[in-house]
Amino acid sequence: MDNILRVENLEKYYGSKSNLTKAIDNISFDVAKKEFVAIMGASGSGKTTLLNCISTIDKVTTGHIFVGGKDITKLKGNNLNKFRREELRIYFSGF
Ligand SMILES: Nc1ncnc2c1ncn2[C@@H]1O[C@H](COP(=O)(O)OP(=O)(O)OP(=O)(O)O)[C@@H](O)[C@H]1O
Ligand SMILES: [Mg+2]
Repeated sequence: MDNILRVENLEKYYGSKSNLTKAIDNISFDVAKKEFVAIMGASGSGKTTLLNCISTIDKVTTGHIFVGGKDITKLKGNNLNKFRREELRIYFSGF
């Protein structure tokens, strides 16, 4: 398993039926170990939403995110805490 990250059929919607924003509308991709990836797109295209889902800051609507083969969308409680503490690093570009 050479992928460090796998995003599978990810959807993230904000709002309710009458006012729905499809911030992420079914995307899938893999990132291999040692690969460097930049996410580019117009303002409002969903870059922050995607990173918030991968970093467990936000919950996905549907789909799966595998980090090192583990589905992090399933993590709860102490398992989620452990993942955040031991496997995740976030470098914010602003305060
Ligand atoms: N908490 C939220 N509630 C409702 N809509 C949201 C929320 N966060 C983001 N959105 C909407 O989701 C879409 C994607 O926003 P997002 O912030 O992910 O884009 P972005 O690519 O990071 O934009 P930017 O380049 O301006 O940072 C936009 O239409 C935005 O208005
Ligand atoms: Mg953003």
